[in-house]
Amino acid sequence: MKDFFNSLEKAMLSQRWVFDDRWSRIGNPFSWVDGSRMDGHSFLKQEYAILQCLSMYYEEYESPEVLKKSKQHDECFNSLNETLEKVVSHFFPSLEIDKRIKNNIKCTALARTQDFSFNELFLSELPNKPVHLDIGPGLGTHAIYSNKILNSSYIALEANDYMYAVQRLIYRYLSHATNPYYDLINAETLGVSESKIKEHLSSIEKYAFFHLPSWHFSMLGDKSVDLATATFVLNEVSPAGIVWLLHNTVRCLKNGGYFYIRDSNKLKPNRHTFNYDNVLQDLGFKLVKKLDVINREDMFGIPRAYQKNEEYNLSFEDLFDQYFGRVAVTNHGGEYMQNLPKKLKA
Ligand SMILES: C[S@@+](CC[C@H](N)C(=O)[O-])C[C@H]1O[C@@H](n2cnc3c(N)ncnc32)[C@H](O)[C@@H]1O
Repeated sequence: MKDFFNSLEKAMLSQRWVFDDRWSRIGNPFSWVDGSRMDGHSFLKQEYAILQCLSMYYEEYESPEVLKKSKQHDECFNSLNETLEKVVSHFFPSLEIDKRIKNNIKCTALARTQDFSFNELFLSELPNKPVHLDIGPGLGTHAIYSNKILNSSYIALEANDYMYAVQRLIYRYLSHATNPYYDLINAETLGVSESKIKEHLSSIEKYAFFHLPSWHFSMLGDKSVDLATATFVLNEVSPAGIVWLLHNTVRCLKNGGYFYIRDSNKLKPNRHTFNYDNVLQDLGFKLVKKLDVINREDMFGIPRAYQKNEEYNLSFEDLFDQYFGRVAVTNHGGEYMQNLPKKLKA
């Protein structure tokens, strides 16, 4: 993963994250608050991380009746289940797919089927071959239904080295018999120029999957995305992280494009207090649908989606200052919490 860190370091300097305000006050957006759990476990930088990521889904929640109304619910579930079994057999042919792994596969397949079904049922203006931006893909399982059933061009946005490594394995495996998988860090390392990479990004339909490190988010064009998904990620990043992800996602969404979010719908302690659901509505997004379910009673996480309705012209700094305050310091942990404007509090 030398190339990953070379790319990150270059961006930290060239984008000035280590100077001035960005360094002394705001912080950089490329950390995962929970990412340090992985440090010191070198096996998680190898294929074993696939099993670790798969095991993150271990509680089974059947799809609520409303989501089962999706015409392709069962087809999607079967396809995910089958593909995930193939992934495990491909990377670990010596391993018996026992009850425990079967459960992880089923729970993961159910979660993604529910995401797909929600989108199929409620995002009525989604075009036939959408450009789908997936923020913080984890194991990368949104790619399975996205490519096969939504017929999308799929872009995976990631900032964490362990997760980028596992996604590299998955996307390469999934794409080997279809269109190529484009890894931006790989292109950068081979000396492909930024203008050429942007050109490749603008003919995204040629690739099965496009892997985009978060520090190169600005290479993705304004109003180029039809659907953004963020499942179990937006409440796991730093203040700079959430503003960066929200700012760029809003910038990249087309007018009429959708932002699908699924998580506990609660801001977690010691991350940030930026209430992204409220901020999206402040920015003119319309709530399309929020499922009336209880987290971890009815299902894992609460799915909801917003639609972009207004022009967006703010910069990252504008949005940061508007919500955190022009002199707020969020880079040293802790103290920014005390001086928050009321509207940021959950
Ligand atoms: C809990 S996992 C969720 C994975 C997947 N979306 C799912 O629903 O199973 C969080 C994901 O967000 C990524 N992530 C964390 N911090 C990030 C950041 N600052 N920018 C982009 N992605 C980030 C992690 O590396 C990981 O892939």
